[in-house]
Amino acid sequence: WPHTAGRTEGELTLGGVGVRALAAEYGTPAYVLDEKDFRARARAWRDALPGGEVHYGSKAFLCPEIASWLAEDGLSLDVCTGGELAVALAGGMPADRITFHGNNKSVAELRRAVTAGVNAVVLDSFTEIERLAEVARDAGARQRVMIRVTPGVDAHTHEFIATGGERSKFGFSLGLGLAAQAVARVLAEPHLELIGLHSHIGSQLLDLEGFKMAAGKMAAFLVECERRHNVRIPGLDLGGGLGIAYRADDPVPPSPAELTAVLHDAVSWLDTPPVLSVEPGRSIAGPTTVALYEIGTVKEIPGVGVYVSVDGGMSDNPRPAMYGAAYTAVLANRVSDAPERPVNLVGKHCESGDVLGWDMPLPADAQPGDLLAIPASGAYQRSMANNYNHVLRPPVLAVRDGQVKVVVRRETEDDLLRLYPR
Ligand code: LLP
Repeated sequence: WPHTAGRTEGELTLGGVGVRALAAEYGTPAYVLDEKDFRARARAWRDALPGGEVHYGSKAFLCPEIASWLAEDGLSLDVCTGGELAVALAGGMPADRITFHGNNKSVAELRRAVTAGVNAVVLDSFTEIERLAEVARDAGARQRVMIRVTPGVDAHTHEFIATGGERSKFGFSLGLGLAAQAVARVLAEPHLELIGLHSHIGSQLLDLEGFKMAAGKMAAFLVECERRHNVRIPGLDLGGGLGIAYRADDPVPPSPAELTAVLHDAVSWLDTPPVLSVEPGRSIAGPTTVALYEIGTVKEIPGVGVYVSVDGGMSDNPRPAMYGAAYTAVLANRVSDAPERPVNLVGKHCESGDVLGWDMPLPADAQPGDLLAIPASGAYQRSMANNYNHVLRPPVLAVRDGQVKVVVRRETEDDLLRLYPR
């Protein structure tokens, strides 16, 4: 739960605002984002890496308001599409604090990044090295770049979000020698300036072992390149990936400071250790936000179980369906003395896979009209929300000191219909 979560006369409050008032004024489903909590987590990361850089992983969740908080609080930003870049710039994040990722950036995206003057483009393929060199040459620029390396570390997480193994679609393989070739190629390009090496091994990682191995391999590779080419490679970016607890009995993840200590350790044997950077997304945004739903129907099927349907589902949270992610839900508008029973919490989509959780304990008297809150909903939920069944994507309501700010408004039918030629 966000730091400011509490109960007033049984009702859940966040940032000093009650969920009943939020639901009445802004409707459900909605994401309620605790601004103080978000900024405290962002600053904790920044403070855990003095002398280094913390690039928030925009893909977890970005809107202009978030970009402005991060700009103010001294963080940088990692984007991986032209869309994320546009939102970051709209929020006032200085271009020279933005790093541009992606395994298939278009020429238009690369041009935009170079023209905007981003801090670095992270190169992901030989095709892209050529492409960016040409774009930079045309623009009369010397573009700062990093090279994404797959260090051959198998992170312990869902295979869809593991990215450090040799079979990953991302980056240049270290073990197969492709990373070394990429370094040589980039150093030979007068319009590219190699400012660092990069690796990201996966997401929702709950132990530090993978980070330690990757950092060790990357540090060794970095000095090897410096010696071979007699150059200085000033930076090492070790990506994001620190996991969070989704349920009360989930393991407690390591803290940012514990992770950065491991990274520092891994490079401390170098004569001139590189400037370290990291790209946390989930561990900043995830815990700050609660998804708020209203129960619409309760269906008891004798001998089978209970289905509780809410007014959202796989369009605002595809994670259970995609990764088997497990959450908790709590009654938010009141407290109940009724005994708990396991229910299947489902959405309103036309699909049986539209499940937010199987066998989730809820008070037996939870009924239509009650509000449910699902914590740890700040990362990869609004950002992965979609319009399946032409459902309207929910708003994000930032709360702080009893005030509400709509930082993403609810979609309307006009938004949907605008896509169709009339
Ligand atoms: N840097 C790079 C290059 C990345 O690919 C990612 C995440 C991050 C940083 C941020 O990682 P984080 O700190 O958030 O773990 N949709 C999935 C997660 C996909 C992660 C993609 N890359 C999910 O919902 O679990």
